[in-house]
Amino acid sequence: MIDTYLDTAITAVRKSGGILTEYFQRLHDCRNKNVNIRDLVTEVDILSERSIKKIIRDAFPEHSIIAEESDTERKDPERVWHVDPLDGTVNYSQGIPLCAVSVALEERGVLAAGAIYNPFAEELYFAARGKGAFCNGEAIRVSDKNRFQDGLYVAAFSSAAGPDKIKEYLAFGAVNDASRGALRIGSAAVALCYLARGRIDGFWSKDLNSWDLAAGILLVREAAGRATGTLGRDYDFSQSLLIASNGSTHEALAGVLSAQGVD
Ligand code: IPD
Ligand code: CA
Ligand code: CA
Repeated sequence: MIDTYLDTAITAVRKSGGILTEYFQRLHDCRNKNVNIRDLVTEVDILSERSIKKIIRDAFPEHSIIAEESDTERKDPERVWHVDPLDGTVNYSQGIPLCAVSVALEERGVLAAGAIYNPFAEELYFAARGKGAFCNGEAIRVSDKNRFQDGLYVAAFSSAAGPDKIKEYLAFGAVNDASRGALRIGSAAVALCYLARGRIDGFWSKDLNSWDLAAGILLVREAAGRATGTLGRDYDFSQSLLIASNGSTHEALAGVLSAQGVD
C-alpha cells in the first residue's frame, strides 16, 4: 500500500508544480488571510490545494485530509494527509522561485509517504517509511559534517508575531555567530529537502503546522537525519519546537537554541 500512497503524493505535487509555474509572476489575486501581514493566500494556493485534494479523494475517498487553505476533512482517523499547496507563498508572490508543494500521509500516527516538489528547480523529493529518501529518483543522504561550527543552518519563523519571538531571533543570531551561518529562506519544506540532501546541516522552527513539515520530516529521517522536539523527544505534531539535523550536529544545535530559551 505504501507505494500507492507515495504514487498519489508524487502525482499530486507534480500536477500542482504545473500550476505554480503557470501562474508565476502572473498572479491576479494575493491577499492577507487575516490581520497578520505575513499570512498570504493567492489564487495559486487555492487552485493547487483543490487539485491535490481531488487526487487524494479519487484515490482514497475514506482518508482524512488536513490542508492549509480549507477545513479539515475528518474521515478515517488512522490515515491523514497533510497538504501544503504552496510552501513559500511570500517568496512566490514576490517572484522568488524558492517554494514548493508538499504532501504527506500519516498512518496510525507514523509518517508513511511524502513528496515535495519545487518546479522551478525541477527537484522532486520523495520518501516512504523504511525505503529511503530520493531526489529526482536518486537516493539522498544528510551531510556527514561532525562539527557544529562547520555547519550551515536554516530557521523558519511562524508568521504570527508574539512576545516569545525575541528568543527565536536571538537564537538565530547565536547560531549564526557560532557556525558557518544561519539562513531564513521562506520555505520550511524546501529547507528540509536541503537538509535531507546535505546542502544544509540543521533546521529549526517553532509553531509551524503539520502541512509545513510532514513530508520534510519523513525525508530527513529517511535520509538518515534526526528530527526531535522538546527535551529531545522524537518530533510529533503536538510539539511546537522542531529541531532537525544530520544527527552529528544535533546536540550542539539544540544546546545553542536552548541557551536562548528556545527549547
Ligand atoms: C511558510 C513557510 C515559511 C515559514 C512560515 C510558513 P506558507 O509557509 O514555511 O518558511 O517561516 O511560518 O507559514 O505560508 O508559505 O505556506
Ligand atoms: Ca507552509
Ligand atoms: Ca502554504
